[in-house]
Amino acid sequence: TILRSSSRENGQHPGPAEGEETYRNPTEVKMSQIVLPCHANHCGELSVGQLLKWMDSTACLSAERHASCSCITASVDDIHFEHTIGVGNVVNIIAKVNRAFTSSMEVGIMVTCEDLYTDRQWKVCHAFATFVAKRTEAGKVQLKQVFPHTQMEQMEYSLAAERRRMRLIHAEIITDLLSKCQEYQDAVPAERTRVESVELVLPPHANHQVSTFGGQIMAWMENVATIAASRLCNAHPTLRSIDMFHFRGPSHIGDRLVLKAIVNNAFKHSMEVGVCAEAYQGGEPLRHINSAFMTFEVLDSDRKPCTLPRIRPEPVDGKRRYKEAIARKKIRLDRKYIISSKHTEVPLSVPWDSSNQMYLSYNNVSALKLMDTRNNWILTSEKNKVRLYTLEENQMLSFKVEMHVSVGAGQTFHLLSDLRRRKEWDQHYESCEVINQADEDDTLYRVATPSVSKRGKGQDFILLASRRKPCDAGDPYLIALRSVTLPTHPPTEDYTRGEVLCAGFAIWEESSTVTKVTYYNKATPGVLPYISTDIAGLSSSFYSAFSACSHFLEANKDSTLMYSFRAMQYH
Ligand code: COA
Ligand code: ADP
Repeated sequence: TILRSSSRENGQHPGPAEGEETYRNPTEVKMSQIVLPCHANHCGELSVGQLLKWMDSTACLSAERHASCSCITASVDDIHFEHTIGVGNVVNIIAKVNRAFTSSMEVGIMVTCEDLYTDRQWKVCHAFATFVAKRTEAGKVQLKQVFPHTQMEQMEYSLAAERRRMRLIHAEIITDLLSKCQEYQDAVPAERTRVESVELVLPPHANHQVSTFGGQIMAWMENVATIAASRLCNAHPTLRSIDMFHFRGPSHIGDRLVLKAIVNNAFKHSMEVGVCAEAYQGGEPLRHINSAFMTFEVLDSDRKPCTLPRIRPEPVDGKRRYKEAIARKKIRLDRKYIISSKHTEVPLSVPWDSSNQMYLSYNNVSALKLMDTRNNWILTSEKNKVRLYTLEENQMLSFKVEMHVSVGAGQTFHLLSDLRRRKEWDQHYESCEVINQADEDDTLYRVATPSVSKRGKGQDFILLASRRKPCDAGDPYLIALRSVTLPTHPPTEDYTRGEVLCAGFAIWEESSTVTKVTYYNKATPGVLPYISTDIAGLSSSFYSAFSACSHFLEANKDSTLMYSFRAMQYH
């Protein structure tokens, strides 16, 4: 969550930590609105379009508070609406800047709803939008940095860099998951759902900078999408989620906005509606402003989703969109599973495939970043400045080992990110092979470890290693490790298949020659036997392993970087 809650908010958000009572994020902007009949659809529920307008303006004001200049909406990440909001309720929106990059900022937006009569509050949605400071005559604006103050802010700051990476490659990941266009009897021709509608951009639709409010465009898009969805089901559809979308170009007062929508595909209980917004002035050619994909459901009187009719796509573009909608649905499901909204719920071994690689990689790195931003580690043991810390939470035991080495951070990162070299210092690594070099930053390995007991079997692990260079000086280098399952590498008789939930290295540059290396591990039962005696203070094997690591790094501090690219030759 992005907010610190007030005492009246529901139990979903932790209250302010001790000593934080008076702190308020300087970029925080709040908006509260009573939902009136003029904001609602014919079912008496707040229209999502209206909500998007409020969210966009609150977020824009927060971005401008940080940037001290005009800002525009560049994109909005996926939004999943958990609840509808009725007339008479109060909507509370809080926005704050999580992180500034060069000219862009991530703004976190939390929407809650409040029932004035019962004093109840609940979460409606949580969104991330990117705002860009408008270019000046001098060129691109260089924003000042955000300095996170609380642990929660530190966490959002750290995750913002990871979300940005995902945002910028989003367009590339709609892989064509080829699937046949199945013919259904009684399918509704998609053509029947087509909507085209024009809007003239007037001053009330524009913001204080005379360009069209991004929220207004989203509201118009939601309107035509709802009509298209209603035409398929002849009922009132409920908008469940909006996929990440990007404002490709600006729009101004006087523009004619042409909004086009059609149902791209209908699944059993949900349908995807695609909407495209184009603008023109006078006889000028159309400018593509935005495209969005929205998922609708139809709820029965018990609020259970109804079965929807199937769709018969139009030839060519219709067929292509029909298939792409299937791919997007798969990606959406993968993402929902992998990027759990609760940060503590890291699922065990997730199946790896190329279509969910980006989300697994995101999840892998985010889990490590979360451990790295925790500030309640307890120092358990220390030997020659190598420190072992533990953290017990939600019945999980995590540990970290911290040390300093006299090797540059970049070199340390290169040396540690090739897991095949780990056996040079870690006796638990009996063997390690690359299974798949998914891309420059993601590698799948099989690691075998010797048995802890004399007669027992050794363990093996299928690990996804995701590495990241710092986005700027505010980040460490990271090497995140987690287990995945691979159909080509099932467990074998000779080894017990172990699982790593979350482990890896954070590497901070302290100076050009001194680096702080922190190793993290969320201990699963398979890992515990290796560390439990250390934690109990009965041994210090962590020390021998990490001083061996330090010797390994120092012995190789001047070696060329060529080896680190060797891994990339594997396919
Ligand atoms: N999601 C998030 N951020 C994005 C993005 C996306 N899909 N595409 C670009 N950006 C970010 C870039 O990362 C960059 O950030 P940085 O400066 O912090 O590194 C910033 O936008 C500017 O990128 P740049 O390459 O200089 O410009 P661009 O040619 O890619 O233009 C916009 C990006 C957003 C400025 C441009 O597409 C635009 O003007 N869109 C219309 C915005 C608008 O008018 N919105 C209101 C509704 S009409
Ligand atoms: P794509 O065709 O790759 O999906 P577009 O930006 O062309 O991307 O369109 C986005 C969505 O808008 C489409 O998926 C479709 O649902 C809808 N759309 C596009 N053009 C039309 C149109 N002429 N009529 C109705 N809907 C359209």
